[in-house]
Amino acid sequence: MVSLTTHVGSLELANPILSASGTFGHGLEMKHFVAPDCLGAWVSKTVTVVPREGNPAPRIRETEAGFLNSIGLENRGVAAYIAEVLPSLRSLKVPIITNIGGESLEAFVEAAELLSGFAEIAAFEVNLSCPNVDGGKLPFATDPHVAESIMASVRKVTDKPLFAKLSPNVSRISDMAKAVEAGGAHGITAVNTLLGMQVDWRSGRFGLATRMGGYSGTAIKPVALRCAYECVQAVEIPVIGCGGISTASDVLEFLAVGCSAIQVGTASFSDPGLLSHLAQDVANLLAENGVDQVQDIIGRVNQVPARA
Ligand SMILES: Cc1cc2nc3c(=O)[nH]c(=O)nc-3n(C[C@H](O)[C@H](O)[C@H](O)COP(=O)(O)O)c2cc1C
Repeated sequence: MVSLTTHVGSLELANPILSASGTFGHGLEMKHFVAPDCLGAWVSKTVTVVPREGNPAPRIRETEAGFLNSIGLENRGVAAYIAEVLPSLRSLKVPIITNIGGESLEAFVEAAELLSGFAEIAAFEVNLSCPNVDGGKLPFATDPHVAESIMASVRKVTDKPLFAKLSPNVSRISDMAKAVEAGGAHGITAVNTLLGMQVDWRSGRFGLATRMGGYSGTAIKPVALRCAYECVQAVEIPVIGCGGISTASDVLEFLAVGCSAIQVGTASFSDPGLLSHLAQDVANLLAENGVDQVQDIIGRVNQVPARA
């Protein structure tokens, strides 16, 4: 029997596989494909205090090796999440991580305040890729000072573990990682989507109505792996890897660079049942290689001398 138990800060997870925000429904929409307890934890899509309609269509495009999306954080707001989503999750044994967003520091704080009293939420993931209305719509995730103050302010209103979700669209992600750690984050999710674009040269049209959007899926894995590694090297808090993961081997690569857990997003669109067997695939792969606990893989790249 291979042990898949892992820890992300104070959370003990039965396995290191989490759903990535926005790609796995909000509540139990995916239960017909994946039994909730197949996951180490279940991450909600971003919830904001004020409901958001999201961006105009087209807002999702397939590319050669992934997705471009500009959903624009469509959601029905915190009140609807509390009234309609949380009750359906109450009986789950799997930890629920609620991803929160906002267009201002105050909006993040208010979301955390409103949700903090709900015992069914095990932790918050703070989506710093939201556009900062006060800062010229630049995402919070691109400015270390702003990101630090968001984490510090949210930290003041909740005792729940806080994970800062970082963007890869920065020149030095390690600076962002240090900033959110200084702000009191208990962990980091690395990473959100890469900024991308698609055009049709025949029609001269952009693929997405917003022209640019978030690129995700297989193609971003090496970028995400590098980002996760840089975060691990920069901070003491645990890192959850995310980006382009679709196989057991991908999972173990992120753990080998030091991630304590990982998230799967785009891969669930092409194979909605993937998360029903991915943890077992990881256990099988470890067993085939004579490893009896997943913990032994975490940070493995740092235990092997560098190539001469
Ligand atoms: C359709 C779609 C919707 C997403 N919505 C959110 C969201 O609401 N909040 C968030 O933090 N990330 C969101 N993401 C980003 C994913 O959680 C993940 O960080 C990113 O897609 C990289 O992982 P992947 O390559 O496994 O998809 C979304 C991604 C996709 C493809």
